[in-house]
Amino acid sequence: MSNPPIKVLLIEDDAECADALREMLSQEKNPSFEMECAKKLQTGLERLAKGGIHVVLLDLVLPDSQGLDTLARVQAQAAEIPIIVVTGMADETHALEALRHGAQEYLVKGEVHGKMLSRVMRYAMERMCAEERVKVEKAQAERLAKELDRVVKELKEAQEEMLRREKVLATGELAAAVAHEIRNPLSIISMSVQYLQSKFLSKDPRREFTEAIVRKVQRLDAVTKRLVSYGRHRELKLVRRNLKRCLGRTLSLMKVHCKAQGIAIVRRYSSKLPLVVVDEEMLDEALTNLLTNAVEAMPKGGKLMLEAAYDPARDEAVIKINDTGIGILPKYREDLFKPFFSTKKESGGTGLGLAISHRIIADHGGSVTVESCISGANRGTSFTIRLPVKGPHLLPPSSRASAVSFGDYDKQGKKVVESETAHHAAASAHH
Ligand SMILES: Nc1ncnc2c1ncn2[C@@H]1O[C@H](COP(=O)(O)OP(=O)(O)OP(=O)(O)O)[C@@H](O)[C@H]1O
Ligand SMILES: [Mg+2]
Repeated sequence: MSNPPIKVLLIEDDAECADALREMLSQEKNPSFEMECAKKLQTGLERLAKGGIHVVLLDLVLPDSQGLDTLARVQAQAAEIPIIVVTGMADETHALEALRHGAQEYLVKGEVHGKMLSRVMRYAMERMCAEERVKVEKAQAERLAKELDRVVKELKEAQEEMLRREKVLATGELAAAVAHEIRNPLSIISMSVQYLQSKFLSKDPRREFTEAIVRKVQRLDAVTKRLVSYGRHRELKLVRRNLKRCLGRTLSLMKVHCKAQGIAIVRRYSSKLPLVVVDEEMLDEALTNLLTNAVEAMPKGGKLMLEAAYDPARDEAVIKINDTGIGILPKYREDLFKPFFSTKKESGGTGLGLAISHRIIADHGGSVTVESCISGANRGTSFTIRLPVKGPHLLPPSSRASAVSFGDYDKQGKKVVESETAHHAAASAHH
């Protein structure tokens, strides 16, 4: 079976030359050629625009264009079609110049014969195809290289994050151990100094020293408590609880501070709040840290809003703590959850509150995010906690088969049975 004809566009004003070339090509079979002819560059360009041409034979000297400009305009019209320059001048330099500018080949009029013409055109097409393939492959290789760069960067970041976490965990455990050791002698110092103080009359100048010691001991006590809380490895004691009740209990502890500081508390709970599987004590600690920060951000009063809702699409409880306080400068956002980051060191901040909350929420399989504004009508900060209603589920399904159940009672006094999977999963999240 013969191949379909190769469509040739000859752009040439010399009718004699055109006839000669047409005659030569008509003799060629397999492949056969179909030649169309344009006498002006403009007509040639219009024909090219319609498509279907496989190869162009181009005279550089035409009524409406001369020299390399002719070549450039054809190339601009059909970059992917091979161009063979037909020169009547037997001028090698001119033709070589055309090759340097992207023509595939050149032929000298009067020195052409059928077989040669056919061969030159086929080779030109082959070369063009090969060049196109190289271009495509080069573009592909560049894309792959970029993708590889991106993956390497991501891997590097993930590795750094892992190292950072390991470091944080290791320092946390060490800090907790040291803090634990400090707490006993600290309570003895505290008791002793209070005893000493009770022996001094209120006007005794030595009281100044004992009072300073009491203050510093209290500060040390607060820091060590925080450190133990941050670094201690605790297994989650998961129970199913009414979210509204959890929030209510935590909030009630803040009421006195709020009243004293002129902070109004607003609750906005959606009517369909779910039961959540949580470690109550830990959730309490996480929420208290966030609420305390909110209160501390409003020394001159303001509004503390606690919102709670259920997101059925993700089966998550969503808790928002909004304040109308001083806000957080954008430059601090990145460091907020890092341990020991605090802008309140002077007033006794340890910078562990958010780190502890973050870890607790993460252990529950949830997330904490923050939005803040330091000026204008929206001034204030909003922390959003998302908690999977069913608690942390990190174990693969296969290991759930052997799960033992443990229970708790819900509001109606019904026993709620939870698979221990979540319990184990949470424990493994600590490691
Ligand atoms: N609601 C908020 N409004 C403004 N700034 C906040 C808020 N919450 C957190 N921050 C900023 O984040 C920092 C870190 O908070 P974090 O609770 O971890 O530590 P801290 O409050 O400084 O000390 P502590 O360990 O006593 O809680 C704070 O020092 C404060 O700059
Ligand atoms: Mg805090």
